[in-house]
Order: sequence, then structure tokens, then C-alpha cells
Amino acid sequence: TSVLILNGPNLNLLGTRQPDVYGATTMSDIEQMCIDAGERLDLSVTCHQSNHEGVMIDHIHAAKGVHDGIVLNAGAYTHTSVALMDAIASVELPVVEVHLSNIHAREAFRQHSYIAPVAVGQICGFGAQGYIMALDALAQRLAAK
Ligand code: DQA
Repeated sequence: TSVLILNGPNLNLLGTRQPDVYGATTMSDIEQMCIDAGERLDLSVTCHQSNHEGVMIDHIHAAKGVHDGIVLNAGAYTHTSVALMDAIASVELPVVEVHLSNIHAREAFRQHSYIAPVAVGQICGFGAQGYIMALDALAQRLAAK
């Protein structure tokens, strides 16, 4: 069983980016945490980060037939991208939406997600741990199939 972890814009700056909001954990720390959790859950984990909407869409398309599910933190594209929503709907893979911060406790423009209607569920507000929670949820869902 194989899972894609896909991270969007500005998440490459984690660690130094607004640490009061996003924590001190870096993207490579998060990727290593996910790979380690994958070993425990018997999931093969592949990680990508991109600052480009189209590149993210290409990763989602390429996941079909290769991965069994996706953990997605689309960053600010969460709140803007009909194109990412359409890509997820097109590949018919289970997607778990993750945000480090609690987007519902922040500015009004962060409280709407284009990803949520096409996701299995959303985990937000738990920092880096949210990725592990998402992997746990996906592992259980995929095992139940
Ligand atoms: C984020 C929340 C978004 O609103 C923001 O644009 C990000 C990060 C999060 O992980 O909390 O880039 O997705």
C-alpha cells in the first residue's frame, strides 16, 4: 500500500516561516516523520513539495494507479484552487486534507477549503502531528477495503 504526501506553496520554508503559527518543525523533519510512520503502518510513503499549482496537479494525476491515497496540505491553494479540487475529483483516490494550523480559528478567507468537499476528511490544528494522524486514518481506510 502506497501513499503520496503532497505539500504546497511556502511549506518548504517551515521551521523559519512564522514559527508562532506553523511551529519549528521543518518540511524535511515532517517528511522523515511520515516515512517512519509509514514503516510502522506498513505504508510506502512518497513525499513531494511544490510551490506551483500546476506541478501539484501533475503529482495528483501521476498518483493514479501508483499510489492508493494522498495526504494533501495545499497551503494557500486550499482557499483558491478549483483546479486542485477538480484534479482530486478526477483521480478518485482517497485524499486526507491536512493543515498545521487550525484554519477555522484564523482569518475568514482561510475558513473555506476547495479541498474539503473532495476529501475523505480534514485534520487541522495539530501541527506536524496532523500528518501522522492523516496517515493513520488512510491506513485504516485502505486496510478496510
Ligand atoms: C496551511 C494553512 C493555509 O491557510 C496557509 O496558506 C498555509 C499553511 C497550514 O498548514 O496551516 O500555507 O495550509
